[in-house]
Amino acid sequence: MTNPAARAARLRSQLEDASHRYHVLDEPNIPDAEYDRLLRELEELEAAHPELLTPDSPTQRVGNAPSAKFAEVRHAIPMLSLGNAFSESEVRDFVRRIEEKLRRPVLEFSAEPKLDGLAISLRYEDGSFVQGATRGDGASGEDVTANLRTVKAIPLHLRGTGWPQVLEVRGEVYMPRAGFERYNENARLHGGKVLANPRNGAAGSLRQLDPRLTAQRPLAFFAYGIGLVEGGALPDTHSATLARLREWGFPVSAESKVVQGADGLLGYYQSIGKKRDALAFDIDGVVYKLDDNAGQREMGFVSRAPRWAIAHKFPAQEQATTVEAIEIQIGRTGAATPVARLNPVQVAGVVVTNATLHNADQIARLDVRVGDTVIVRRAGDVIPEVAGVMLEQRPKNAMPWAMPSTCPICGSEIVREEGEAVWRCSGELSCPAQRKEAIRHFASRRAMDIEGLGDRFIEDLSDFGYLQSVADLYKLNLEDLLEMKRRVDERDGTTPETVKAGKVATRWAENLVEAIDRSRKTTLERFLFALGIQHVGESTAKALANWFGDLELIRHLPWPLFKHVPDVGGEVARSIGHFLDQPGNQQVIDALLARGVVISDTHLPTAKLQESLDLANLLLDLEIPKITRIRADQLGKAFDSAQALVDAPTHHFVTAGLPAESAESLAAWLEKPGNAALLLLAGAALATLQAMVPQGDESTAGPLDGKTVVLTGGLASMSRGQAGEKLEALGAKLAGSVSKKTSLVVAGEAAGSKLAKAEELGIEIWDEARLLEFLEANP
Ligand code: IVH
Repeated sequence: MTNPAARAARLRSQLEDASHRYHVLDEPNIPDAEYDRLLRELEELEAAHPELLTPDSPTQRVGNAPSAKFAEVRHAIPMLSLGNAFSESEVRDFVRRIEEKLRRPVLEFSAEPKLDGLAISLRYEDGSFVQGATRGDGASGEDVTANLRTVKAIPLHLRGTGWPQVLEVRGEVYMPRAGFERYNENARLHGGKVLANPRNGAAGSLRQLDPRLTAQRPLAFFAYGIGLVEGGALPDTHSATLARLREWGFPVSAESKVVQGADGLLGYYQSIGKKRDALAFDIDGVVYKLDDNAGQREMGFVSRAPRWAIAHKFPAQEQATTVEAIEIQIGRTGAATPVARLNPVQVAGVVVTNATLHNADQIARLDVRVGDTVIVRRAGDVIPEVAGVMLEQRPKNAMPWAMPSTCPICGSEIVREEGEAVWRCSGELSCPAQRKEAIRHFASRRAMDIEGLGDRFIEDLSDFGYLQSVADLYKLNLEDLLEMKRRVDERDGTTPETVKAGKVATRWAENLVEAIDRSRKTTLERFLFALGIQHVGESTAKALANWFGDLELIRHLPWPLFKHVPDVGGEVARSIGHFLDQPGNQQVIDALLARGVVISDTHLPTAKLQESLDLANLLLDLEIPKITRIRADQLGKAFDSAQALVDAPTHHFVTAGLPAESAESLAAWLEKPGNAALLLLAGAALATLQAMVPQGDESTAGPLDGKTVVLTGGLASMSRGQAGEKLEALGAKLAGSVSKKTSLVVAGEAAGSKLAKAEELGIEIWDEARLLEFLEANP
């Protein structure tokens, strides 16, 4: 066993190295789990030998206890700001001023992205990070050392050799876009506070009094300069200094470049501008710095900015204006997006009159109200958005905004799924905003397969009011189509000479009417898929058709019953239920049937439903808090119908064997509006289904009915469990070992004795490809 001090030093060096590779070089060399293991070992060692603990140990990155307030730090060398250039001529003036003063032409500059974060100064003594401060007013800032220790891209100990005894490194702490998005997604999911933008995210995180909170924020760092240097020397150009900082373990922007003269600077500006949207972080411009330090000293400063450097800003992407209205826009998939109608304003060269508010959460977070003065942002090709509200300017009578409960276009309910930020109009087929997309889907090849009904026809037929819903397709006749064509030609000024001369082409219209007519006869699976219910793709439609067999049955089932179909979970079941709950959707189904749509393959529900059609399963389907399998079974035994359960007093649930907690949870659930009614409805549907389902084994669906299947070896495309579920859904019985009774063996990678046995017994064997082929043919 080595001595503890040596072991600690070894661990630190391994951990520092791994962290540098991960956070600075972006080339990880050990798995996360290994890093965690080494870190834990070091923590234990330091706990056992407190004298070994140093402030620059990697264990100190986790964040210490909070402090009451930040101490003030005076900057030994002031942290300057930069002058701005907004145009080519201002950049040329900048270069000319330097050339004139230094009497040298075509100078070399270091050109760098201007990161949008928070400027900080890091002090290292003998290679150890000892203090970090914000810029503050430039002369003094706040001591945020504890918070900066948690930023993994900041080295706690310098790498390599040759560093000065005292070194101040300056740079920007920022929040990469991906980290920002991830952080906000998580905050939304867990009801936390959402960050307004990466820049505020970085600034707010660093100014947390509790470093443990900072440690959870995805912060990064770029070094772009130096402050105080004592007891050592640095190279005599800025670019070489950056290279040295990189060797010592600091992240330095990979976009930094040395360029020549004004043309070089402008070329750099162009090329970064093009890359801007693709960068992993926000920038608001570029910075040009005279590369040689002697020249910098000669140029000196004006007020608080150097004469040897300048920021070339991208056009302002933010402007202030007022909100005239907040309206709801219904997208093609029904997503309800709030949009702010604005007093028109120029942003980055374009007049902006509307800005997206993304979703109701975003409005709630920003608290945008009609009448507010807001900051509108337009970044790259992105749709303009409202980035913030200037609260000081809010009119007294401004009212908080709320998502309307009904769709402004079709009047259907606007709903939101649990955990989702997006609200949706549930009108689906009956909502004109969603109509074109719905019709396109309805007519598509794998749905009702109406040949020749292309996007143009759908557009024109909708625009001229021939199609209010998909059901209207079956009302169209030859005259309608010809009339529509005539109106389109008139509108577009494209009436052909032949038509003017009295000859009307009718062949296309006859073909279309025929194609529509042909599509009337369809299968249940196609019909269900064609309805465009959210989460119901082809395979779910097929499963629903296989299991229930009958549209009239399906369209009146309460949602929990859909969960009896394999692969249909709570979310999908609710989505189907919600679709069917909308009167507009039921009317569309009625109209389709009234206009001659015929489902040719109606059959009885599958016998496989038998096993699961009982009260216990129904209670489980309803997702009642604290009603687990065991509890549901107990209730199923104690009560013989949903009605009996609804009528029972709470103590009967306890008598049935439920712990008080579960009994109360069930009682509370039943109290909530709608729940008891849903249970009764579902109970009645259960009884109906029980009466319909064929008794005995004459099941209707399942190509693998009666077959015993053994799965062996590893599959590449899915787990064995998943494969088993799919095969069961098709009627197979799974078995664990191969015998004479086995009908089929599915053998994956490295299948062993079971495969051998199957070969010996001459049992049918499938490889993975064959399995996939089969599953595809029987979705
Ligand atoms: S140099 C003496 N380089 O921009 C020069 N600043 O207005 C001092 N910034 O507060 C700054 N990226 O936070 C420099 N590559 C970069 C920069 C940069 C962002 C920020 C910095 C500073 C502000 C200057």
